Amino acid sequence: MTDASFIIVAIDGGAASGKSSTSRALSERFHLLHVDTGSFYRAFTAELLRQNVATDHPDAITSAATALQLDTAIEGRRAQMKINGRVVPDAEIRTPAVNANVSHFAAVPALRQALLEYQRGQADVGRSHGFRGLVMEGRDIGSVIFPDADFRFFLHADPVERARRRAAEGQQDSITERDRLDQSRKTAPLACPEGATDVDSTHLTLEEVVDLLSSHLATRLAPVA
Ligand code: CDP
Ligand code: CDP
Repeated sequence: MTDASFIIVAIDGGAASGKSSTSRALSERFHLLHVDTGSFYRAFTAELLRQNVATDHPDAITSAATALQLDTAIEGRRAQMKINGRVVPDAEIRTPAVNANVSHFAAVPALRQALLEYQRGQADVGRSHGFRGLVMEGRDIGSVIFPDADFRFFLHADPVERARRRAAEGQQDSITERDRLDQSRKTAPLACPEGATDVDSTHLTLEEVVDLLSSHLATRLAPVA
């Protein structure tokens, strides 16, 4: 089903560049379904670690990842992935072990493939729940998942500022190491896709970033909040 009025917004960027907070604010301002694909990779990682699957065993990763039953629960404006009928809670996906392993699992092509159609299918989830569009954030949304998205943004911020932001959240996370792994992998590496709008948020407040992106979206959609 195609619906020309349903808009797709893709937001990519490195760790702690502001993707989630910006996407959440846009989802409220324009009544969009918010899809945090990083949480999907994190949930897969938590599940594979629970099954004792090693990051350097691509065959085991492939068979474990493809066996998972995926579904979606909507919480407010956020899409939550269900694995085998259960939403993996935030407390289980934002742990030091997941932070340390997620980019290794995310570099395995079969694991990315196992999530590809599920991610694209979120557009139908959004339509069927009456949203006016979808804001999806990650590393390869504007390049691989929705290269024809109505709006594609790439958020940058100085690594020192990003580390400060993550530490202020009380999280133990080596963001530069994850960025290095995400940028250097062969499949769907982290990079600003050609034609995307590049935003450097190092010296911008969250509100300024949200206002800037909103000014683009407002050319197609009136804000609701
Ligand atoms: O919140 P933060 O930016 O630190 O990370 P995240 O968005 O939760 O993503 C966690 C990890 O998942 C990333 O470092 C990537 O390795 C992987 N990821 C990916 O490969 N592709 C995506 N579309 C989203 C996340
Ligand atoms: O999703 P991602 O890892 O890219 O970043 P985030 O979780 O949205 O943002 C990480 C932290 O930086 C949050 O505590 C935000 O409130 C903060 N932030 C900020 O201080 N200034 C911005 N321009 C954007 C985010």
